[in-house]
Order: sequence, then structure tokens, then C-alpha cells
Amino acid sequence: MFGMPMCCRTTIPCRSRCLAADVAALTATSPPANKLATARRRYPCRAGSDVPWCHGTLSTVTLAPVYPVRSARLLLRPLSLADIDALLAYRSLPEVCRYVPFAPMGPADIVARLREPWARRAIAQEGDALVLGAELADDGRLIGDVMLRWTSAEHGCGEIGYVFNPRYGGRGFAAEAAHAVLHLAFDDLRLHRVIARVDARNTASARLAARIGMRQEAHLVENEWFKGEWTDELDFALLGREWRSTTFSGCEACSAVKER
Ligand SMILES: CC(C)(COP(=O)(O)OP(=O)(O)OC[C@H]1O[C@@H](n2cnc3c(N)ncnc32)[C@H](O)[C@@H]1OP(=O)(O)O)[C@@H](O)C(=O)NCCC(=O)NCCS
Repeated sequence: MFGMPMCCRTTIPCRSRCLAADVAALTATSPPANKLATARRRYPCRAGSDVPWCHGTLSTVTLAPVYPVRSARLLLRPLSLADIDALLAYRSLPEVCRYVPFAPMGPADIVARLREPWARRAIAQEGDALVLGAELADDGRLIGDVMLRWTSAEHGCGEIGYVFNPRYGGRGFAAEAAHAVLHLAFDDLRLHRVIARVDARNTASARLAARIGMRQEAHLVENEWFKGEWTDELDFALLGREWRSTTFSGCEACSAVKER
């Protein structure tokens, strides 16, 4: 997983070779190399690639994690129909949905999302979003979910999101899960930059973004008409080169990266 040559990190030169079937095969067959292992297939960059940060001869074109992705106290893994009740327990709450772009969900909303788009197990191309459930390693309870979206192949950009059951709030679980997603984004998908967009009133989310090392870059004033009112947005970001000097308390994968 670590110590690989500098790679081209985009699907652009290699997309024709990267089929969904490859991702499925990788997911099914690759054993975990370590606690944040990701099965990846590397392809040669096409000669004359116009991708400015393609420096080498290898291309990492998918993110197909070997599940569960582990952190100190959590397991991240795809959601399933067995999670309906646990998801409803927090995604149906108005206070959880106040600053996120969806309304409180009912069972039908959850089932529809579980069928698509939450059924995705890998990121294969720009625009794909991976939503993973976060369960307690101790007892398997689902306490929240995290999202990674590959927003731009050309610019190597992604976005993260997180929604947690307030019953398990204030214990650092959400930050731990979001940090694990940054490992996927930077170490495995090899993104250049990851952002988080936060409603300026959502102080818990802003604190979380800062806690995982993201830098606040902007405070946009009344940039969105959101749920019936003009709202401000805070934009947080982290670059790959900043990520490499970021550590997170208790994270074994961070130690592994440092030992490279
Ligand atoms: C955003 C959200 C995930 C933050 O939840 P949270 O409980 O504050 O975050 P964490 O689980 O990381 O817990 C962090 C808190 O636990 C505290 N904490 C206690 N024990 C801890 C431990 N062992 N390790 C780390 N932190 C610990 C931290 O100090 C921190 O408190 P603080 O924010 O007052 O400084 C949650 O509010 C949420 O799901 N909101 C609804 C959805 C939403 O708005 N999502 C964001 C969209 S941008």
C-alpha cells in the first residue's frame, strides 16, 4: 500500500482500461495488506498524458477498499439493508438534518438510497461517491456514516462528509471516521486536495474539520439559499502534501505512513 512510485492519479489517461468488473474482481479477491488496505490495480499512463501531476509510469485508477476499513475504535464498511433501523435512528432526526442537504428520512428514503447510490463499494471514476457505515469495533453497532466523493479527476480533488447519531456524539468517533476517510482519499485514491463544505452555523462540523487537520479557506457569505433562507458556508481543505505531515491521535495507519 505504501512506498509506491509516484503515480498518475487520474482516470483520464487510463479510463478505457478500467472497467467496473475490475473493481468488483479486486474487491472480491484482494487480501488486506494492512489495517487500511485498499485493493488497487495500476495501469501504465498513456504516453503524452496532459495530466500535470502525472510524473510516473503507473496509474492508480480506482479506490476499492478491502472491507472493513479499520480505525482505532471503528470499522468502516458498505451499508446494507440490515442497517435500516440504525440509519433511521439518526437520519430521521430533524436536528441531524438541519445543516445537511437532505430532509429527515423515512424508511422508504433509506431503502431507496441503500439500493443506489449507497450500494457503491468502490470509486472508479470522477463523480463517484462512496458512503460507508461506521460501526463500533467493540459491538458492531452502526453509529454513523461517512462519504468520500471524487469531484475532479483533472484536478485530483475530492470532498468528504459525515453524519453521526447524536447518541454517540462528543466522543471523537466522527472525527476518527473522517480521518480514516482521509487515509482512503490521500493514501489510496491519491488525491491532491480534499475539501469539506460546512454550514457556518454548524460549529460541531467545523470543529471536526479542524480537528482532522483541515484548513479553513473561506467563509462564503449568503452563498446558498438553503432550506428557506440565505446561509453562509465555511470551506475547509487539505492538500496531499499537508496530509503527509498530519497525524491523528491513536491512528496506527498514520504511524505506518510515517515509517515509510
Ligand atoms: C458533525 C458531527 C458528525 C460532529 O459530531 P461530534 O460528536 O461533535 O464529533 P466527534 O464524534 O468527532 O466528537 C468530537 C467531540 O468529542 C470530544 N471527545 C470526547 N472524547 C474524545 C475522544 N476520546 N477522542 C476524541 N474526541 C473526544 C472532542 O473534544 C469533541 O468535542 P468538541 O467538539 O466539543 O471539542 C455531528 O454533529 C453530526 O452528525 N451532525 C449532523 C450531520 C452534520 O451536520 N454533518 C456535517 C455536515 S458538513
